[in-house]
Amino acid sequence: MIETENLTRKFGDLTAVDGVTLRIEEGEVFGFLGPNGAGKTTTVRMLCCLISKTSGTASIGGYEVGNGPDSLKIRKLIGFVPDSVGLYDELSAYDNLDFYGKLYDCTEAQRKENIERFLKLLGLWEKKDVAAGTFSKGMKQKLAVARSLIHDPKVLFMDEPTANLDPESAKTVRDFILDLKKEKRTIFLNTHNLDEAQRICDRIGILNTKLMAIGTPAELEGSTRGRKTVVQLEQVNDAILAALKKLPLGNMTVDGNKLTIDVTNPEKENATIVDAITRAGGRIQSVTVVGSSLEDAYLKLVREEK
Ligand SMILES: Nc1ncnc2c1ncn2[C@@H]1O[C@H](COP(=O)(O)OP(=O)(O)OP(=O)(O)O)[C@@H](O)[C@H]1O
Ligand SMILES: [Mg+2]
Repeated sequence: MIETENLTRKFGDLTAVDGVTLRIEEGEVFGFLGPNGAGKTTTVRMLCCLISKTSGTASIGGYEVGNGPDSLKIRKLIGFVPDSVGLYDELSAYDNLDFYGKLYDCTEAQRKENIERFLKLLGLWEKKDVAAGTFSKGMKQKLAVARSLIHDPKVLFMDEPTANLDPESAKTVRDFILDLKKEKRTIFLNTHNLDEAQRICDRIGILNTKLMAIGTPAELEGSTRGRKTVVQLEQVNDAILAALKKLPLGNMTVDGNKLTIDVTNPEKENATIVDAITRAGGRIQSVTVVGSSLEDAYLKLVREEK
């Protein structure tokens, strides 16, 4: 549905996006991660035909980005939630959406149906007659999400849609993204939230001007190690330590009654650890795994030289 080949954008001497090649299937939720200034917004703006590309090719639904007549077709096919919201402050929530619907030549019936549906889904229906300028940041953000969908686009680009949202609203938007996926829409999501990416994305790309890695969350996690299991015991003793040392485990450190053990696959190793401690007569107060493996993969990749 979205394809790019060596997509590049320069601003003067600065290369913001360097040779990005991607292929995103219909119905896929694709997460784009990367540090500030990595080129995520620039990539999305090129794909949405808002800025020109310097070189390379890109297409959406078979239409070519950068080709005049195709750009018009692409704009009807896509919705865009920008990182800065840009609503008409003096218009009500409802009228903002109605205005955009008209811009996209939606029929009155389609506008009515979609405005009601999306405002209700995003918890803004009761505020439909209130001027958008009085909305909080998060409410504006949700209104921008509704606006991007008013013309039923098949492909949705979202640039940090949950950045300003409280945890509950962020969950509303994430659940909403998964509903859109069920409708076979393709979603391209820029985010800094690794947990969010891990939970809702089918695949993740890590950008740092260049595309550093791409894969499913599990594939990216598999590319690094670094998780630790922390076991809090009532009382550490030599029998417990001896039992653990017999196991094929990673490095272990002991701090008072707390053990920290390097693990590669805690889902399996923790059971063995708990079993050995219990057999040695130890009493466990808690077992926790620290270090998100996607976070490790991300940090490793973005620290690599560009
Ligand atoms: N219009 C512009 N003129 C000059 N430089 C620009 C322009 N737009 C973006 N840049 C530069 O391109 C680089 C990539 O910026 P971009 O906004 O794409 O990053 P980003 O990955 O979206 O970052 P963030 O996570 O902070 O949103 C930055 O160095 C930025 O300063
Ligand atoms: Mg950005």
